[in-house]
Amino acid sequence: MQKFIVTPWEVKGNIDYDKLIKEFGTSKINDALLERTKKHTKDLHYLLKRKIFFSHRDFDWILNEYEKGNKFFLYTGRAPSSHTHLGHLVPWMFTKWLQDKFKVDLWFQFPDEEKFLFKENLTLKDTEKYTYENMLDVIAVGFDPKRTKFLVDTKHANLMYKEAIKVAKKITFSTAKGAFGFTDETNIGSIFYTSMQAVPAFLPSVLKNKKIPCLIPHAIDQDPHFRVARDVMPKIDQYKPASIHCRFLPALTESGKMSGSEGHTIFTTDSEKEVENKIKKYAFSGGRDTLEEHRKKGGNPDIDISYQYLTFFEEDDKKLEKIYQDYKSGKLLSGELKQITIEKINKMLKEHQKKRDKARKQIDKFLKW
Ligand code: TRP
Repeated sequence: MQKFIVTPWEVKGNIDYDKLIKEFGTSKINDALLERTKKHTKDLHYLLKRKIFFSHRDFDWILNEYEKGNKFFLYTGRAPSSHTHLGHLVPWMFTKWLQDKFKVDLWFQFPDEEKFLFKENLTLKDTEKYTYENMLDVIAVGFDPKRTKFLVDTKHANLMYKEAIKVAKKITFSTAKGAFGFTDETNIGSIFYTSMQAVPAFLPSVLKNKKIPCLIPHAIDQDPHFRVARDVMPKIDQYKPASIHCRFLPALTESGKMSGSEGHTIFTTDSEKEVENKIKKYAFSGGRDTLEEHRKKGGNPDIDISYQYLTFFEEDDKKLEKIYQDYKSGKLLSGELKQITIEKINKMLKEHQKKRDKARKQIDKFLKW
């Protein structure tokens, strides 16, 4: 098996998620934890049932506190560097579900300096543009404006900087090197950055002058940031943030994750035709070489990207199961499967784009708090 890499800046190869749990030292989400969650949420989100959210740190503690009447807040974020793509929507849809089920606040960070610092060719003008564009997508996901606050690092610097330096003071260069692989050639802004990403995990506690538990839903690549933050928090008299982690939506061409810097990524702003062309042209197929062989031996849904995408976006379990069986038996052809996925994604994006348009008028509600 090919070697895989998962860091906050790079995701490559065929990811072995069980191995990642061991390497990162997180915990697997088991059935007992799901049952316990269900007591509060009544049903389970399909992303949990399908183990797309598969790992956590201290989520059980969050439930302990919740059961004692001690509500948590949610924190997640997006570093603007390109338009939003389908992969970004996955943790956001799940975060919205958590917000609705537990009726809790969400702090959404837009670290608009992050990709400026880490990417050679990205200007602050670019990140400013994408901060706005990405905000539209976050709002379109449907977060409750009364319970959701946007934090933009360069805009809210007056509030955040004071907290960031408390964190930064407790992180040595050696720790940062160990967690992120920095070298002597890394710019010093990048080295400082993780302290900014730690801030929203305890800023609400500072503002309310009382410790409030924090739960961070995110894709597993962000874990190094919060691993470092968790070590620091007790030193500044704050709770360690808990977190819940998802897998990556695979790239259309199969290896690694969907990324905004690749040519065949599906963006939330794509037209129906663009989605169709990208899936037809690039989506890796688990089908057989000839029609005859496919009918006889069946396809392999487990490696078929169109099918994988349905596991992320088709909420109907029965529909999904039927597609799986029909593809495996050879009844459903690769072209037909692609068509199902194209229609599903286009339907979803049509709705999303409508809401995204309306969001232009709503931004202020999320920014002024
Ligand atoms: N570093 C993340 C990115 O590259 C952005 C981010 C900031 C984030 N705070 C977060 C992601 C909290 C998840 C949870 O997009």
